[in-house]
Amino acid sequence: MGHAEHKIQDQPQAKAISLDEYWMPFTPNREFKSAPMLVVRGEGMYYWNDRGEKLIDAASGMFCCAAGHGRKEIAEAVQRQLTDLDFIAPFLRGHPRAFELASRVAELTPGDLNRIFFTNSGSEAVDTAMKVALAYHQARGQGGRTMFVSRERAYHGVNFGGVSLSGMVNNRRKFGPTLPGIGHMRHTHIKENYFARGEGEHGVELADDLQRFVNLYGPENIAACFIEPIAGSTGCLVPPKGYLKRIREICDANGILLVFDEVITGVGRTGHNFAAQAFGITPDVITMAKALTNGAVPMGAVAISERIHDTIMNAAPEGTIEFFHGYTYSAHPVACAAGVAALDIYRNDRLFERGREMTPYFQDAVFSLKSARNVVDIRGYGMFAAIDVASDGVPGRRGHAFQKKLFENGLHLKTTGDAAIIAPPLIAEKKHIDEIHDKLEKTLAAL
Ligand SMILES: Cc1ncc(COP(=O)(O)O)c(C=O)c1O
Repeated sequence: MGHAEHKIQDQPQAKAISLDEYWMPFTPNREFKSAPMLVVRGEGMYYWNDRGEKLIDAASGMFCCAAGHGRKEIAEAVQRQLTDLDFIAPFLRGHPRAFELASRVAELTPGDLNRIFFTNSGSEAVDTAMKVALAYHQARGQGGRTMFVSRERAYHGVNFGGVSLSGMVNNRRKFGPTLPGIGHMRHTHIKENYFARGEGEHGVELADDLQRFVNLYGPENIAACFIEPIAGSTGCLVPPKGYLKRIREICDANGILLVFDEVITGVGRTGHNFAAQAFGITPDVITMAKALTNGAVPMGAVAISERIHDTIMNAAPEGTIEFFHGYTYSAHPVACAAGVAALDIYRNDRLFERGREMTPYFQDAVFSLKSARNVVDIRGYGMFAAIDVASDGVPGRRGHAFQKKLFENGLHLKTTGDAAIIAPPLIAEKKHIDEIHDKLEKTLAAL
């Protein structure tokens, strides 16, 4: 590969930076380095690239920045925390912010999901949730329950546990057999529901795939079922009406834990605290990350039912470690400070309610693109939506081109394959939604 350099254009005095050393994640590196898309500043609903051009953020960064960019409250809390206490070992030692954030998260979670384990990412939250499920069944004398069920088109992060649960083919196929004992149900993106707004009318019976795994493997072998209530990364796949309820019922009837992976849907995206509350289904465990700190500092968390937590606690002799798991940076003081500051903003600015109030306007805008050129399906729920563009014959190529054109036209979003995923910050006003709509329409027409 040749050497790639780039001059930051809005800083004429700056030295050119080498693009060679940084190996970018989930990016066509060679293409990027021949035509870099660098972002140097963010404020409110907008980013600025290194040419000083303004872009509207239609993706909350990557489903993270619900309160928009450059929030001073978070910056100040982080700075204060860094000078008060930068770091303390999370094993055997604690700091007040961790307890404060856990209490604040527990105020948002449904049911008795009031025990909070901190991680540094969504991927770590997923692997932690898998271990919680295994430890719980061991603790209650059902250690035979080691299998998991998830779904095709699921994204549960990139660590080996999460990749094994995931149903995104390219994320798995280069990495060997992954973990054994995982069954994948069918996904719920079916033709009958194309262009359905919210939950589709068709496909509740797809939940019975879980029953088929139960019949095939025996309930006594299955630990947990992992579900994104709305599959996010593969393009906002909203569940059919009644689907999550039926999944919950099958789990209950068979002693299987239900884990909602809410790394995208949690913390306000649906206009509710979690999608669990939006759909009225309480899982046993919820994973979250991203908007937890407004994206300002990496952090994930797992909310666990008190019943599960207490079972694991009570199985261990007093004075011993109950759960042999954790990260050096679990509940990092700076991440906790950012988390508390972000949750303060969400509460004080009523951002989840704002998202709920803005939802009809937002969904109208996205669904009005139904007859735009190249559109083959649209899905949406809350402040979350996706547009599938027609494949040009090579899956994902047109989606990728769409994303690049949108960036040139002043709009940032993420595409997966041929799905463009839209998730604006919850601070979005009607004029921002209009701008997002107009840029999508114009770019679709020229695609
Ligand atoms: C549902 C879900 N789970 C897990 C993850 C992984 O999170 P992270 O990238 O923070 O590891 C993601 C990331 O998008 C996600 O959408």
